[in-house]
Amino acid sequence: MCGIVGYIGHKEKKEILLDGLQELEYRGYDSAGIAIIEDGTLKHFKEIGKLENLRQKTKSYTSNGFGVAIGHTRWATHGKPTELNAHPHLGEYSFIIHNGIIENYQEIKNELTAEGVQFVSQTDTEVIVHSFENENHTAKTPFEAFTNTVKKLEGAYATLLVTKAAPNTIFFAKSRSPMLIGFDGDDVYFASSDSPVIGKANEVYYLEDGEYGYAKSGEVKLFDANGERKISKQALATDKVLAQKDGYRFFMEKEIYEQSRVMSETMMGRVLDSGIDFDEFDKSLFDGIYAIKICACGTSYHSALAASYLFERIAKMRCDIEIASEFRYKEPFLTDKTLFITVSQSGETADTLEALKMAKRAGLKSLSICNVDNSSIVRESDAAILTRAGIEKGVASTKAFATQAMVLWMLSLYIGQLRNTIPKDKIEIEIDAMLHTPKALVVEDKLHERIHRLSKRYLHGHGFFFIGRDIFYPLALEGALKLKEISYLHAEGYPAGEMKHGPIALADSELFTIALMPKTLLYDKMKSNVEELSARDATILAISPETFELADDFIQTKHANHPMVEFFEMMVVTQLLALEISVRLGNDVDMPRNLAKSVTVE
Ligand code: M6R
Repeated sequence: MCGIVGYIGHKEKKEILLDGLQELEYRGYDSAGIAIIEDGTLKHFKEIGKLENLRQKTKSYTSNGFGVAIGHTRWATHGKPTELNAHPHLGEYSFIIHNGIIENYQEIKNELTAEGVQFVSQTDTEVIVHSFENENHTAKTPFEAFTNTVKKLEGAYATLLVTKAAPNTIFFAKSRSPMLIGFDGDDVYFASSDSPVIGKANEVYYLEDGEYGYAKSGEVKLFDANGERKISKQALATDKVLAQKDGYRFFMEKEIYEQSRVMSETMMGRVLDSGIDFDEFDKSLFDGIYAIKICACGTSYHSALAASYLFERIAKMRCDIEIASEFRYKEPFLTDKTLFITVSQSGETADTLEALKMAKRAGLKSLSICNVDNSSIVRESDAAILTRAGIEKGVASTKAFATQAMVLWMLSLYIGQLRNTIPKDKIEIEIDAMLHTPKALVVEDKLHERIHRLSKRYLHGHGFFFIGRDIFYPLALEGALKLKEISYLHAEGYPAGEMKHGPIALADSELFTIALMPKTLLYDKMKSNVEELSARDATILAISPETFELADDFIQTKHANHPMVEFFEMMVVTQLLALEISVRLGNDVDMPRNLAKSVTVE
């Protein structure tokens, strides 16, 4: 996710920008850049990859005296992560940085191109700077040109513009992407979130949607559609870690709440009205492929297992799933008609990486589904699809799992399209369901509060069974893993229909059964399985859109018309349940004992 910083004042500007961008690194990025105007001279630097590369490039540059400065970390959406696509984008005499997506950029670009404006990048952002300079030909002031430009923009933006036409000024505008202004005497800062300005500014103003204006040596003017507005500053928190958590108690909690938003990023440019499209690879990757093998560990294994149902059902393609650490030593029989897929949040998991190397040695084509660009697994694979979850800090994976499941669902539909195994009307149903997913992931206060209250009844007992059928079986495995990772309570995931073949022997009132009971998939079968447990006095917590009279506790989810939409909503419930139980037990859910975020050892 892109990051923005800005500064206007007398201090050395390069370090302020680079330090600020470093604070935003956790959002994830693939290139970075800065632009500074000092004494009427415009300077800019851009680099792909880590901020360290930009630090190296700017090593011999310092900026002294009064000036304006903007900096950006870019997380590619429109156009690949190249230096040309990195921000700031230059017009003839102005620079722009931007977070978000300008939805009508193509329209604006066509108009400007017709007037002879040349574009050099593939980004949506570049239209802002050219639009500004175009307006500035006729506007009375640069601010009027900026205002006219902002009025044309549709979509999401937090944007800063500096220009030689007003060399002491930073112009700003915000809609649907976060941005704040920090104040310290006459010094003014801008940032996407608190952390870059903590320790620098002492007061802050969080911009509202539709607000825009300019900052000029000690003076900040703020406007919205109704004219000039008063800036009501507030004191700034001083704890950096607290600021990065955006007010949530734990990174894991923040990441659960982020899922709705990041899911839209995962789908962006890939889920189209007509079907699924992936820029990342050519469809020839699937030439001669008759089966899929997916290798992964932990949570990533669970998303892969859920996908195996989708690949067979939607793409009509044989799909085997393997735990990477098992696969490595089983002397697997591999044929080059199999596409080898690895799923990994970090892209550095040793077992998954080794499994991938084995498959490559056997001559298989490979595709990785990963959250970290340039990670070892991504580099080792023939092709990669990034999940775009943004940096995940909680050791217990949440948004990475959600976005992996979405990418795999999209991939199953993509292969179904390619192989003509899915009729057009079915494609439309799947697309519609995908587009409903961000809504299903929104955490409502009422739901969180209910789970918080319920959680106090689940702090004892001799264990948990999470049960589900079909894709809800991997979700049950994931729910149980989440709970045991952070609560240290014993929990197992089981296919509900399998309970009667042994595990039901454990059933008693101290055995807590979390039953995933979607209405769109095998509801009656699932109901019978839960009835069998209830008859043996197990304590049942049912999660379902349908009230279930035998349940001891009940969390009602919404009625949906697709199992995957129910899958994602129930996923949030299991994540919050694990979180709330663990918080009550006094555990540090972000750093659970014995676990590491990236498991780079065998
Ligand atoms: O980075 P990866 O997805 O390859 O990691 C695999 C597992 O180590 C990981 O999913 C682990 O199970 C998490 N702690 C789950 O919350």
